[in-house]
Amino acid sequence: MRHLSVPKKETAYWREELSRLGFLEKSHGIHDLNQFRGIPLNDKCPSDFSTKYEIIHLEPIVSGPKKWIERLPRELYLLHKDDWPSSFDQIGEIIVIKLSDSIANQAETIGQALLEHFPSIRLVCEDKGVKGDYRVRDLNVIASRNSNLSFDTIVRENGKMMQLDPSSVYYSPRLATERQKLSKLVKKLSKRLGKKIAICDPYAGIGPNLVNAYDKMYVNQILANDLNPQATPYLTLNLPEFSEIYCTDARDLATTLSKKYDIIFVNLPHDSISHLSELSPYLAYSQETMIVGWALSDTGVNDLITQINDQFSQDDIIDLRIDEIKSYSPSQSIYSFIIHLYLSP
Ligand SMILES: C[S@@+](CC[C@H](N)C(=O)[O-])C[C@H]1O[C@@H](n2cnc3c(N)ncnc32)[C@H](O)[C@@H]1O
Repeated sequence: MRHLSVPKKETAYWREELSRLGFLEKSHGIHDLNQFRGIPLNDKCPSDFSTKYEIIHLEPIVSGPKKWIERLPRELYLLHKDDWPSSFDQIGEIIVIKLSDSIANQAETIGQALLEHFPSIRLVCEDKGVKGDYRVRDLNVIASRNSNLSFDTIVRENGKMMQLDPSSVYYSPRLATERQKLSKLVKKLSKRLGKKIAICDPYAGIGPNLVNAYDKMYVNQILANDLNPQATPYLTLNLPEFSEIYCTDARDLATTLSKKYDIIFVNLPHDSISHLSELSPYLAYSQETMIVGWALSDTGVNDLITQINDQFSQDDIIDLRIDEIKSYSPSQSIYSFIIHLYLSP
């Protein structure tokens, strides 16, 4: 098939120009020829079209299906037309997907279709839910690209990298956009207080809140804690060297602290609100401090406001912001909350 060979830098210009003239073969892809690109031409393009650049003959790049489900055998796809999952999570090189009972016995075929569609994926796992106090995902490998079956992987979130094993420590990419706002909150508080600040996550998991919030211009102390002992090595890998890392119940740790913090993060959605009053020992006295967290509720914003105010009835809440993030179940939603506090000694 004929292709116009153009310098790499001029690809966008020539693609547009050929499209404008009606000479672009839109159903085929563009060849990567190192410093040049081969743009596919259709039959309408005259053979003497360009004197500037060469017309060369190359195999057409036929683009594959746009959706992974189009890679399933047709009869199977039609048989379960309404049951195919519309979404899944990608955690580094791992796809984690929930399967309803009606298609669970097709797990291997589904895994292979996903591997074929996403070349950067190494493992496809069925997500059997988050379990226990550590909120760890029960994962069942349904397809693998090679013999490396390790769950260890690296995620990139908002430009930062973290190492993790999603089968041993909680991690969800779904709050990544939420976590984007943490560095702005840290910067603002640091500027208001006129100093570098101390940040703390007593329920840190692999540390995504702290990793997103950390900026060496504004932060000079970090504490990370998680009840799950498997979190400790990942916190060590993902956080700056000066971080203090613990593995205990967040409420017990609060009573033994030698330092105080300017911001704490609380992501324990089923219990965030009920733990709040026991977390005040983490916070510095006689200045503005912040608690940033996420909570589940089936009764809405006003009820959360009441519950939070009840938890801090002895303290001064300067400002409280609550936003609904998304629904979690037919009756529950997940909310973010930001509490600005002033604690008296
Ligand atoms: C929903 S996960 C959030 C993890 C992390 N902050 C994130 O956003 O990815 C809650 C974490 O709290 C930990 N956890 C549960 N109860 C705890 C407790 N009482 N004290 C400290 N950590 C706890 C779990 O092991 C889990 O890693």
